[in-house]
Amino acid sequence: MRILTGIQSSGRPHLGNILGAILPAVELSKKSGNESFLFIADLHTLTSLKDGATIRSNTLSIAAAWLACGLDTQHTYFYRQSKLAAYHTELLWYLSCVTPFPMLANAHSFKDKSNKLADVNAGLFTYPVLQAADILLYDAEIIPVGKDQRQHIEMTRDMAGAVNRLAQKDIFVIPEAEISEHVMTIPGIDGQKMSKSLNNYIDVFLPEKDLLKQIKKIVTDATPLEDPKNPEEDITFKLYQLIASPEQVATMRANYLQGGYGYGHAKQALYEAILVYFKEAREKFDYFMANPKEIEAKLEEGEARVKPIAEATIQRVREIFQF
Ligand code: ADP
Ligand code: TRP
Repeated sequence: MRILTGIQSSGRPHLGNILGAILPAVELSKKSGNESFLFIADLHTLTSLKDGATIRSNTLSIAAAWLACGLDTQHTYFYRQSKLAAYHTELLWYLSCVTPFPMLANAHSFKDKSNKLADVNAGLFTYPVLQAADILLYDAEIIPVGKDQRQHIEMTRDMAGAVNRLAQKDIFVIPEAEISEHVMTIPGIDGQKMSKSLNNYIDVFLPEKDLLKQIKKIVTDATPLEDPKNPEEDITFKLYQLIASPEQVATMRANYLQGGYGYGHAKQALYEAILVYFKEAREKFDYFMANPKEIEAKLEEGEARVKPIAEATIQRVREIFQF
């Protein structure tokens, strides 16, 4: 199976990105018979961020996160979208011309962002078409993503179908989203979806002190320490459940229900669990951040290997229009 997924370089990678996208994709890429395309969607980043130095530094930390979480560049295609921009944007154009305007105008993420952001640019509007190009360019079959991306993959399927009907043959593979049910949407420290843009994330690669500071900011209700608490409604507990062992989770649940256990205790336990769960990844992340040339070399090698694949697809599409 061909697996493909991308992460924007709009900030440092956070717990939601890692559990929702990076780790599931790395797991899938290790299964025999699978071939993976894991990339940094730095063209998409321009919809929200225009500063080159910031984008570059985010790209490095996202790449370091992929590598720290076990991505094996020998067996995957690992690249920056911007280094293949000619192919991605050419396909974006062909797909734009088979995409009905209302499909984009009614997209959840566009409506959401255009209500919230000051800069409602056309890139934000065509965002899902560029995403479809990212996927269709490499004949990807399985797209591991967080739940928020479900609609984008649906739109990609529609666009692929429209081109296939137009050409009267299978130009594109119709991809499928793979959404890990147990992670679904990871809550941020304020209980909303954890997101770079909401500034409510937990950055598991921070130095210990800063990490603990972030965890301490998780919002809780005002139940006094001695009273019993409802674990199911608490953000710290929800996050703990994602990374602690079943026994640890059972113990914390019992502590909540019993009372005499404060949110401060739970936060300390979450902090410790993060340090254990991400021990190796944190070490590797620091190593790669200290050696950016190694990251660059790995990306360049991946970019050289994906190029002929992108070129072959574009050629197939140009032929439809006799270009
Ligand atoms: P952000 O929302 O922080 O800008 P991206 O849009 O770059 O993150 O998302 C990259 C990947 O991480 C996507 O597959 C997305 O679904 C996943 N992801 C992001 N936030 C979460 C979250 N809170 N829970 C689960 N998955 C998430
Ligand atoms: N839109 C995705 C996100 O914000 C990032 C992305 C861009 C992507 N192109 C992709 C994800 C292709 C999967 C496949 O999370």
